[in-house]
Amino acid sequence: MLDKELLPRHVGIIMDGNGRWAKKQGLPRTEGHRRGAEVFRAISTYASDIGIPYLTFYAFSTENWKRPQQEINVIMDLFRDFLHEAEERQEENTQRGFRFRFIGDLSVLPEDIRSLAAFMESHNPENGRTTVNVAVNYGGRSELTRAFHLLLKKVQSGEIDTQDVSEAAISDALYTAGQPDPDLIIRPSGELRLSNFLTWQSAYSEFWFSDVLWPDFTTDDFDRALLDFAHRSRRFGGI
Ligand code: IPE
Ligand code: IPE
Ligand code: MG
Repeated sequence: MLDKELLPRHVGIIMDGNGRWAKKQGLPRTEGHRRGAEVFRAISTYASDIGIPYLTFYAFSTENWKRPQQEINVIMDLFRDFLHEAEERQEENTQRGFRFRFIGDLSVLPEDIRSLAAFMESHNPENGRTTVNVAVNYGGRSELTRAFHLLLKKVQSGEIDTQDVSEAAISDALYTAGQPDPDLIIRPSGELRLSNFLTWQSAYSEFWFSDVLWPDFTTDDFDRALLDFAHRSRRFGGI
């Protein structure tokens, strides 16, 4: 159905609307997160099947710590469940060619989550089909600040000169180093903002917004976004 040539290489997804979905069903917000985690599994599998090489899912932002502790605990439990499941299905994931990367400041997360995440990253296949970045405790500004610190240290130690701090050097100091910038960013739930997602990398991204709440998001919605993307005229400042 979709011309392979016109598929985005990298799709970023802001998984938003879990709480409102739950409220609509008369359920606690945490049920929305549970359902949202299932949709994450379904969409990442589908996107890999149709041949999208890079995906970034926004799971928890640096701002989400403002939420009630109980909700944060449930989100972390869901993340932990996902990591355990992925560990169990490591062979299957390798066969599929999934490469999982965790982007964000994981240093403040519980130790068991950090070691599970590190285990998964170290067992990624060499040449995967689809790199799945899961953004946890991620913020675009925090990522950039970290990148500037890394580069400053290199300048201070004499490893590089000030003039080596180029756009490419900044890109290489981000969590997404070596990956293409997102061609397409999808945000469901009706909000029309980035909420600190991929600040540097989204400079030339195409955006696709929808009122669908993330737990209701289907592969058909994903196809709609891809079809829209295929019709965009990307000029990058040219004519
Ligand atoms: C997205 O859903 C999940 C996270 C931000 C962790 P929300 O929990 O933000 O859902 P709404 O926006 O309140 O509906
Ligand atoms: C963005 O959603 C973060 C994630 C989906 C993880 P939020 O619900 O936190 O964003 P705001 O508060 O509406 O900007
Ligand atoms: Mg939200």
